[in-house]
Amino acid sequence: MKLSLILPHLIYKFKSEADLLKAIEEISLKFTKERDKIGDYLKDPRLVAAYTAFYLLTNIPKLEEVLKWMPLEWTSLLKECDFIDLGAGPGTFSLAWKNLGEIRGDFYQIEQSATMREQGLMLWKGFHQEKLFQSAKWDWKNERPKFLLFGHSANEMGNDQAIQYIEKINPEHVLFIEPGTKEFFPQMLKIRDHLLNRQYAVLYPCPHGGNCPMHQKDDWCHQFIQVEQDAEIERISQMARKDRKLLPLTVHAYSRTFKTTNPSERLVRVFPETKFSFEWEICHQNQLERYQIMKRDLSKSEVKELGSVLAGASLESELLKELDQYKRVKIIKIK
Ligand SMILES: C[S@@+](CC[C@H](N)C(=O)[O-])C[C@H]1O[C@@H](n2cnc3c(N)ncnc32)[C@H](O)[C@@H]1O
Repeated sequence: MKLSLILPHLIYKFKSEADLLKAIEEISLKFTKERDKIGDYLKDPRLVAAYTAFYLLTNIPKLEEVLKWMPLEWTSLLKECDFIDLGAGPGTFSLAWKNLGEIRGDFYQIEQSATMREQGLMLWKGFHQEKLFQSAKWDWKNERPKFLLFGHSANEMGNDQAIQYIEKINPEHVLFIEPGTKEFFPQMLKIRDHLLNRQYAVLYPCPHGGNCPMHQKDDWCHQFIQVEQDAEIERISQMARKDRKLLPLTVHAYSRTFKTTNPSERLVRVFPETKFSFEWEICHQNQLERYQIMKRDLSKSEVKELGSVLAGASLESELLKELDQYKRVKIIKIK
């Protein structure tokens, strides 16, 4: 997808690239420094259009990258479900989901802002013929299993609202793609607790359904992905001084019906590599552990591969030596 393909389907026509850039900078400010005024952009067609232009193009590769962490059979199962884009905004994740192809379920968007819904409908009709169900709240009764996605919305509505929606919609599967911030982490843990109490299994990122070991620490569990950008968006990102290539995010996945065995080790933090080793923090069963991987035991290509691994990957390792502060390990598999 390219920026030039989206521009005809925006509810506001930007006079120039500079005009679009200015609007992107305004939104960015609201997301980072003016969180108390975050609702302002939702009523302004200019800012909603700028949001759409900028975030649609990063959310498409973002979803693709996130799904690489998920069990393949789960993703296939999700494609049979009705897709519910909650806090859909202009439906960036609806388009990203549709973009994967072979989706047999219907598309639903729940979005409180009328301006966002207007933009969402225009964008959907610009690219697809299928019917789009849209509303400010959940008021449908459908028979098919439901796949509920929160895309940067649980953090805006808060954990209580998010839980209320889950109760009302009663989906089989839930995926959160939220900001990788310290502020959001305690909210995500409350939602996690609720889902586990409701007999959902956590598929990602936790290797287990027990207490989160990060809970005790002044730290938060989040992941990183590296995405390839459309050239036009990359240029605008650079001008707006926004890094849209290396993205921190909070991804959680749950299911009531899909059964799998989770990987037992999850990479939760990559420490700066030393001349001799890689040092990682791992969530292993119910504990955080520090792993050391010696470069001298690796080929050149393995050093390169491990040097590019980001927090969020799953792994299998073999213990070589138990040391005071960490475990020296050999990596068997990484995904
Ligand atoms: C940051 S935007 C994300 C939009 C889109 N999901 C994306 O990732 O590009 C958050 C959206 O959540 C919506 N939202 C927040 N609270 C909501 C609620 N209680 N019900 C419905 N939508 C809500 C906002 O109106 C806003 O459009």
